Amino acid sequence: MYPDPLAPSTPSSPASQRKKKLKTFQRYLEVVCWKRNEVRDLEPVLSAVADACKQINRIVQRAQTDDLYGAALGPDGLPLADNIQGEVQQKLDVVCNTIMLRSFCSGGSGCIAAVASEEEDLPRTCADVMSADGAFAVGDYVAVFDPIDGSKNIDSSLPVGTIFGIYRKGAAELDGATTDTFLQRGAGALVASGYCLYSATTVLVVTLGSGVDGFTLDPDRGVFLHTHEDIRVPKSGPIYSFNEANFRDFSLPVRRYLTGLKEGASGQASARYVGALVADVHNVLINGGIYGYPATRTAPNGKLRLLYECCPMAMIMEEAGGAASTGTGRILDVMPTEIHQRAPTFLGSIENVFELDQTHQYYDDELAEAAAGD
Ligand code: F6P
Ligand code: MN
Repeated sequence: MYPDPLAPSTPSSPASQRKKKLKTFQRYLEVVCWKRNEVRDLEPVLSAVADACKQINRIVQRAQTDDLYGAALGPDGLPLADNIQGEVQQKLDVVCNTIMLRSFCSGGSGCIAAVASEEEDLPRTCADVMSADGAFAVGDYVAVFDPIDGSKNIDSSLPVGTIFGIYRKGAAELDGATTDTFLQRGAGALVASGYCLYSATTVLVVTLGSGVDGFTLDPDRGVFLHTHEDIRVPKSGPIYSFNEANFRDFSLPVRRYLTGLKEGASGQASARYVGALVADVHNVLINGGIYGYPATRTAPNGKLRLLYECCPMAMIMEEAGGAASTGTGRILDVMPTEIHQRAPTFLGSIENVFELDQTHQYYDDELAEAAAGD
């Protein structure tokens, strides 16, 4: 008699059924935070975020059966106003936003002072989130997040994700100027980043500034297990992940770069585009290549948000040995001037991103020379 392949694996399953004895995320955190004093304060908050991702995973899985699809309705039964990005807020966006707010503010043992969400117009102090007094706004860190990235994918059961970043609090006072404390370059201020991908498997990918690790949710035990140790993005790779429907609106260097890829030797490039940043970047992280959301004629800074999306992903890619560029500079060096700022984004294998940057430089120099000759 063959063993039932669908029988849930348990800690007591025969060793042959399990990949290996995998450490839990909790254990990983304990060890890293014990070894590295500078990240010790982050242990409870990262643990709370992992729990939030488990809750969001469950909600995503149950969205169809529990009628969580579609636009969020207000008390009057009408769709809520568009979010700050001008997008219709989905029911899931609202629920998952609340889960993330609470995980940072109540699960962080007071280390997070304020939070900024892609779904909300303005950042909030944790005291405000918890409807409590100033005791909740004393931490040394601030957190940014996108609770459900790619939420349009939900209706068609395609992958979605959650993205987050934790910054050391900026010099600006929180009182009355909450926004300013978030306006910092990623480089030097961003101390941890991560994403959770809800897809064929649910994977939490995290960096605390010393490499990148990945944890797959064991659906039977409800724990994240350390399946991807010290992830390194391949030095170069075949994937290119762009929304090519916008091709004619891309700048000349990006058009030339993409055309060059397609005219190269057959089989060297492979187009993949899910339409959820987390899924597309995870694919590039694992298989190598480049993800791009360039500027377009109508959106000169592209679509992705610097704080909630570009910087956390840039930190992960750099920590995994890859690169993250706006096409003309390092993403983590961009100084934000407002919290919902967008930035053109290219992330991935170091050689692929280098080539994209070189193409920008070549055509920018050529255009500058032509302009000088006029
Ligand atoms: O958050 C923005 C986002 O949903 C990303 O997850 C995704 O990569 C992108 O928009 C998709 O945009 P488009 O539909 O324009 O390709
Ligand atoms: Mn998003």
